[in-house]
Amino acid sequence: MSQELRAVDWTGTGLTLVDQTLLPHRTETVDVSDVDTLVDAIQRLVVRGAPAIGAAGGYGVALALLQGEREGWTDGEILRAIARIREARPTAVNLMVCVDRVTARLPEGLDAVLEEAAAVQREDVEANRGLAAYGADWLLKKAGEDRPLRILTHCNAGALATAGWGTALGVVRELHARGRLEVVYADETRPLLQGSRLTAWELAQEGIPHYVQVDGAAAGTILRGAVDAAIVGADRIAANGDTANKVGTVGVALACADAGIPFLVAAPTTTVDLSTATGDDIPIELRDEAEVLEWAGVRTAPVGSRGHNPAFDVTPGRLVTGLVTERGVLEVSAGELPADRLR
Ligand code: MRU
Repeated sequence: MSQELRAVDWTGTGLTLVDQTLLPHRTETVDVSDVDTLVDAIQRLVVRGAPAIGAAGGYGVALALLQGEREGWTDGEILRAIARIREARPTAVNLMVCVDRVTARLPEGLDAVLEEAAAVQREDVEANRGLAAYGADWLLKKAGEDRPLRILTHCNAGALATAGWGTALGVVRELHARGRLEVVYADETRPLLQGSRLTAWELAQEGIPHYVQVDGAAAGTILRGAVDAAIVGADRIAANGDTANKVGTVGVALACADAGIPFLVAAPTTTVDLSTATGDDIPIELRDEAEVLEWAGVRTAPVGSRGHNPAFDVTPGRLVTGLVTERGVLEVSAGELPADRLR
C-alpha cells in the first residue's frame, strides 16, 4: 500500500476508511461522521485488523463527542455511544484498549481527544517499524545462511490491518528491503479472503513475489519443506502467550511445530492483554453462518445445514516460537512469557 493511503485517517471533521470489503478490485474510501456508521463499518470489516480497529475506535470517541454536540446528547448518551464502539467486535483487545485510552481524555474536550487518538495512530506505526526490524533480525540470525527466506502468512497483518506498515507483513517488507526474501505463501483465509484479497494486494503493490494458496494447502506446503518460517499477526495475546488470531492460524502453528520451523507472532504490545490469563479466557467472535454457507450471496451448502463460523482461533503459547513486539522477540515456547517480560 502506498504510504499516502491509510486504512484509517482523520480528515479534521470525520473519519475516512479504506473500504476493505471492495479490495482488490476497487480502492475506495468511505467517510464516517456518526457512531452507527462506524460500528457498522467495524462489524462488516470495512475496517479490520486489530490495530486498525483500535485506531478507528480511538477516533470514534471524537466522533461520538461531535455527534453528541450536534444532536444534543447528554454525557450518559455520549458514553453509551462510545461503549457501542468499544464492543463492536469482541476479540481484538486493541479496540478496547484504544477506546479506553482516548476516552480518558474526554473531560479535557475535543482537542485532547483528537490529540490522544492521533498518538495511538502514530505510536502504532512506530511500533510496527520497530517490531519489523526485530523480527527480521531474529529470523536472519536463526536462518544463519545467506539464502533468502520463504515465508508463510495467514490472514492480513499488513498496512491495511494497522495504522501503517503492518506487523507480520511489516517483517516481510523488512526482509524484502534487505534483499533476504524469496517468496511469500499467502493463505487465502476463508471465509472472507483477507489473504487473497488484501495480503496479496499489498504484496503486489510492493512488488513482493508471492503465491496465494488455499488454507488447506498450508500444512502440506510446510511439511514439504517449502517454507522457512510462518509469521502471523494477533488479535489478543494472553499473559501466558496463548494467541488469538484469524481462524486457521492454529493449524499453521501445529504444522510448523511438526516441521521444526519457527512460528512467529508479530504484534505491538497494545495487543498483549496481561489481564487475560490464558487463551481460554479470550472471547472468540462467532460470525454469521451465511459467511460459510454461501459464496458471493449464492447458497453452496444444502438448505438445512448449519454453519459454524468462529472468526478466530487460539494458538497455545507452547507453539509460538517467537512473539515479536516493538520491545524485541520473546521466545514463548522456550518459556519467555508476556506476563514476566511485558509488564
Ligand atoms: O477479522 P479480521 O480481518 O479483523 O482479522 C484480522 C486478523 O486476524 C489479523 O491477523 C490480526 O488482527 C492482526 S492485524 C495486524
